Amino acid sequence: MDQHRQLTTNQGVPIGDNANSITAGRRGPTLLEDYQLIEKLAHFDRERVPERVVHARGAGAHGVFTVKNSMKRYTKAAFLQEEGQETPVFARFSTVIHGLGSPETLRDPRGFAVKFYTEEGNYDFVGNNLPVFFIRDAIKFPDVIHSLKPDPQTNLQDPDRFFDFMSLTPESTNMLVHLFSDEGIPASYRHMRGSSVHSFKWVNEFGNTVYIKMRWVPKQGIQNLSMEEAAKIQAEDFNHATRDLFNAIENGDYPEWDLYVQILDPADMDNFDFDPLDATKDWFEDVIPYQLVGTMTLNKNVDNFFAETESVGFNPGVLVPGIQPSEDKMLQGRLFSYSDTQRYRIGPNYLQLPINCPFAQVANNQRDGAMPFKQQTSPVNYEPNRYEDAPKPNADYIETPQPITGVTGRQKIEKTNDFGQAGEVYRRYSQEEKDALVRNLVAHIKKVRHEKTVLLLICNFYRADRELGERLSKELNIDLAPFLNQMSN
Ligand code: HEM
Repeated sequence: MDQHRQLTTNQGVPIGDNANSITAGRRGPTLLEDYQLIEKLAHFDRERVPERVVHARGAGAHGVFTVKNSMKRYTKAAFLQEEGQETPVFARFSTVIHGLGSPETLRDPRGFAVKFYTEEGNYDFVGNNLPVFFIRDAIKFPDVIHSLKPDPQTNLQDPDRFFDFMSLTPESTNMLVHLFSDEGIPASYRHMRGSSVHSFKWVNEFGNTVYIKMRWVPKQGIQNLSMEEAAKIQAEDFNHATRDLFNAIENGDYPEWDLYVQILDPADMDNFDFDPLDATKDWFEDVIPYQLVGTMTLNKNVDNFFAETESVGFNPGVLVPGIQPSEDKMLQGRLFSYSDTQRYRIGPNYLQLPINCPFAQVANNQRDGAMPFKQQTSPVNYEPNRYEDAPKPNADYIETPQPITGVTGRQKIEKTNDFGQAGEVYRRYSQEEKDALVRNLVAHIKKVRHEKTVLLLICNFYRADRELGERLSKELNIDLAPFLNQMSN
């Protein structure tokens, strides 16, 4: 028999019978000496790793990123220097709130994560389809997520809980205007955009720094689902987005996204009625134009969902020389959270897994830990040392120093402007989009049991845009008069 086709245990020992455990006698109990049985059951018992605490449900694919316009002027990032330059990528799209087997038709932001395996190490883009977020400080993240997750008693998501949080968190109004538009349910992963949400810094070879935001625009076009369309699809196929992505790639209909960058000169930082580093605010394209960087093409499905899509670990703090984090307070918290969860979720050596392992060479003195299967073998595992061939730091790669001012403290940002942009977004919607937003909001707010929460929520929408507030109060039979009197006093 062909040696490779022989069924074996994980120890490589040939298996003679894969259907009958060893028993004592014909009817006797099973024997502990049956290594093959115990290995098989014990391995099965450990098949699952903890799912992601958020973004558990996702679909991934491999591809390539091709530079269309050199970004040399703004960043020294090696993978963005030359037109036509190609970098292998792995992208993972996801829903946020519910578990690994949950429907892909729910109203929820969608994750849009791309790992670039660059010649100077990995660079992770970890964004969402919507351009803003609910909150502006990482310290509120566990709260916003708890409010959106199922109730600990009923195990049901409950608008009474998440609207309680949102109504008391007015900076979430802009995100709600996006999430409850039809863009809150993208038709598929192939038909949604992606946004960095946060700004980052790009630094060029001369040490000049600009603030940037990045956007992915699907070449397939943007398509969303109405509530009714989503309900119909969910009844037929709650995996429709995973299926759509897999089938498109399998059929050679490779999805593509153009990557755009927006550049903000640090000198212009104070020229807005909001703080450009606030993750609850968008940078409108007509104010800060998009510049085309390149195109991502996804052209290969995963061979194994668990080894690739489930085991991949992204972190918005995984950056390459020429890209540095901004001072955005949400981003600053995220820089810690991702690799922290991955060391717990996958293990301390998760970066040695093929999907996470950089294509660039890794050389340092980190050793051991659980499953160090790509262990660096040099016995010189300390630095400095007298050995010339041992890896040494290179001062060319020191991060460009950045100015800071002020005192430490738990401080609010100066320009909160919680409602201005939310109103502007509403006014920019077409009549059809405005109607869909009101319909979607009403369908969910109707389920809120506490009248005070409803009133507070509508007041927030009213502050964003008078018409929006009035339409909601009319549909929900809420008398806004006491609130309006209070405002005029
Ligand atoms: C996944 C934390 C805000 C996009 C995750 C995970 C954690 C996390 C712990 C699971 C990672 C894993 O298990 O591998 C946080 C914290 C945030 C925050 C603490 C705020 C302070 C955001 C924002 C965005 C975002 C603002 C979008 C701009 C994503 C995406 C994933 C993710 C796309 C899934 C990555 C994947 O496909 O593996 N987040 N998150 N998160 N987060 Fe966040």
